[in-house]
Amino acid sequence: MSSLRRGVADRMGDIAPFYVMDVLARAKAMEAQGRKIIHMEVGEPDFVTAAPIIEAGKRALERGLTHYTAAAGLPQLRQAIAGFYADRCGVHLSPDRIIVTPGASGALQLVMGTLVNPGDEVILADPGYPCNGHFVRLAEGRPINVAVGPETGYQLTDQLVQRFGSPHTRAVMVASPSNPTGTVVADEQLRGIYRTATDLGAYLIVDEIYHGLVYGGTSQTALCMAEDVFVINSFSKYFGMTGWRVGWLVAPAAFVGAADKLAQNIFLAAPTPAQHAALAAFEPGTLEILEQRRREFEARRDFLLPALRELGFRIPVEPQGAFYLYADCSRFTADSFAFAIDLLEQAGVAITPGKDFGRNSPERYVRFAYTTGLEKLQEGVERIREYLGKERGARNEAKE
Ligand SMILES: Cc1ncc(COP(=O)(O)O)c(C=O)c1O
Repeated sequence: MSSLRRGVADRMGDIAPFYVMDVLARAKAMEAQGRKIIHMEVGEPDFVTAAPIIEAGKRALERGLTHYTAAAGLPQLRQAIAGFYADRCGVHLSPDRIIVTPGASGALQLVMGTLVNPGDEVILADPGYPCNGHFVRLAEGRPINVAVGPETGYQLTDQLVQRFGSPHTRAVMVASPSNPTGTVVADEQLRGIYRTATDLGAYLIVDEIYHGLVYGGTSQTALCMAEDVFVINSFSKYFGMTGWRVGWLVAPAAFVGAADKLAQNIFLAAPTPAQHAALAAFEPGTLEILEQRRREFEARRDFLLPALRELGFRIPVEPQGAFYLYADCSRFTADSFAFAIDLLEQAGVAITPGKDFGRNSPERYVRFAYTTGLEKLQEGVERIREYLGKERGARNEAKE
């Protein structure tokens, strides 16, 4: 090989893999050997996509709707998304501001690609969804990961944005409800963050991918607040369509042209049959199914949260949404990754280690996803109880 030829780009050094893949690979190997694993690591709904959506997807294929759509998406889908905001949130948006993307992941790339110049800073909460910082790096920006804890509900505040803001701040990013903590930013707090970001000359980006999955009370979309915010959403989670790869971005009007141009270049369009299927997501019959599933997630949270607390995991803030519990496991271990692997191998329970969500004391935390049925969650809790009991026994023996 020529000594002049360099390897992968430097930025790749800042882009981490998902460590949970190690857990998943071990879990799969154990399942292949006949072990029964309780999966609490998976970040997607266990439910199969609702039948009316599947039927609409099949019809699209049967009708030969297999060609590209416009880069910004099917006009009728953009219209339907606007209608959904009007019905659910009372916000009236021009469909022109909505760009359909391959999942929220596509929307995140459009936001960072159209907004971030080399060296620009984007303020993010740590713990948070790890890809956000990676997308900032892809655009040659600098993620500013701000450590957040239970005192702010694991979310950014306007004070934190003030403290970490600089003349280089280009954007502040919030996820509500958040992955991995499930916590929601209160409307008033979000307004404060928006005002502070605007004073800094920066934009607010809100990832609302778990917006439909809020339990007890409602959460308003950031689009109620102002027209110059970026809002990201997806058909993946509430609508149960992870594998179909459809999401959307609502962009400030001044950015729509650039986002459309970038979409044409980086993915041409979201998958056409999936966009037709997504149209059925807004039908009353489908929404009824989705609401039933939301209630099921709520029942799972209401079981798992007290059960884990009773076992000794610290979960100081009650998560109001998504399907995650971010638990402090430092009572049991100084290394949450080793703990996750050991729990899998000894008890057959798969969870996600904290280091998938940032650098803010990840060794103290693990994430439990309640993306499996109540019965399996109950079995999972019993297995964890037994595992912790044995561990305690072994530690006491070693002391004697
Ligand atoms: C907070 C958050 N944003 C974005 C995504 C990407 O989702 P998708 O591309 O499937 O819409 C995820 C997926 O887990 C997520 O948790």
